[in-house]
Amino acid sequence: MKNSAARYSNEAILSTELLRQLAYNEKMAELGKISAGVVHELNAPLSVIISASQMIMRESGVPEAVQEMIARISSEAQRLSQLTKGLLNFSSHDETIGEVDLNLTVDFILNFLNFEAARRGVIVRKQFDHTLPVIRLDANMLKQILLNIVMNALQAMENGGGKLLVETVPAGCDHVCFIIADTGPGISPESIKRIFDRYYTTKKPGEGTGLGLFVTKNLVESMGGEITVKSRNGGGTTFTVTLPVSN
Ligand SMILES: Nc1ncnc2c1ncn2[C@@H]1O[C@H](COP(=O)(O)OP(=O)(O)OP(=O)(O)O)[C@@H](O)[C@H]1O
Ligand SMILES: [Mg+2]
Repeated sequence: MKNSAARYSNEAILSTELLRQLAYNEKMAELGKISAGVVHELNAPLSVIISASQMIMRESGVPEAVQEMIARISSEAQRLSQLTKGLLNFSSHDETIGEVDLNLTVDFILNFLNFEAARRGVIVRKQFDHTLPVIRLDANMLKQILLNIVMNALQAMENGGGKLLVETVPAGCDHVCFIIADTGPGISPESIKRIFDRYYTTKKPGEGTGLGLFVTKNLVESMGGEITVKSRNGGGTTFTVTLPVSN
């Protein structure tokens, strides 16, 4: 009797866990679908803007000031077009290991979250090491890791006026590293022991599943890397991720 009660409660826990994991996967898949839809909607008008601005630039007798404005319109539209292409990759579910430029990927995620930072009044500073070697990994996994850490930092600075510093640095001859430092409220010593635990969240129900850092740590470790965190209550938080150049 005792045994069957214990089995029943274990099964209940397992199915709750499964449901939560499914809810998180659903959230990520939904995000992918939304971005694929947005990309689709954005691509057509962007190509019109790019080709129309190039046609105007080829016209003779266009005043220099207008030429300059059109050139800006064209280059901004091309930048957006690059961004949307990256989004399409992001929403794809293919697992592909290839050569990845860490600086470009960090830059892509920061551009992707530009609006989220701006709406919270967060100033973002990037400091890239341009001597970094390319790394061999799944770019989508790297994007997921960056997205989770940066989004947490932005959410921690919800009240505005925060700063975010994102740095890339070499780590020895066979590792690279990125550091994400925020000036948010920091994490208490009791919380910091639990932030990588499955379902640990301090956010209101519906705002956080507590799976972000759990998934992040698993992804980093599956790539043979390491993630560490330093924080002081009231003193900001710094996450450091070290990844092997090839694994
Ligand atoms: N940069 C940060 N500053 C302050 N607290 C943080 C920071 N990053 C993470 N945390 C704390 O760690 C907890 C766990 O983070 P995690 O990303 O795993 O889950 P979540 O953000 O709460 O929810 P989810 O990511 O699933 O939407 C957060 O609820 C928050 O308390
Ligand atoms: Mg999170």
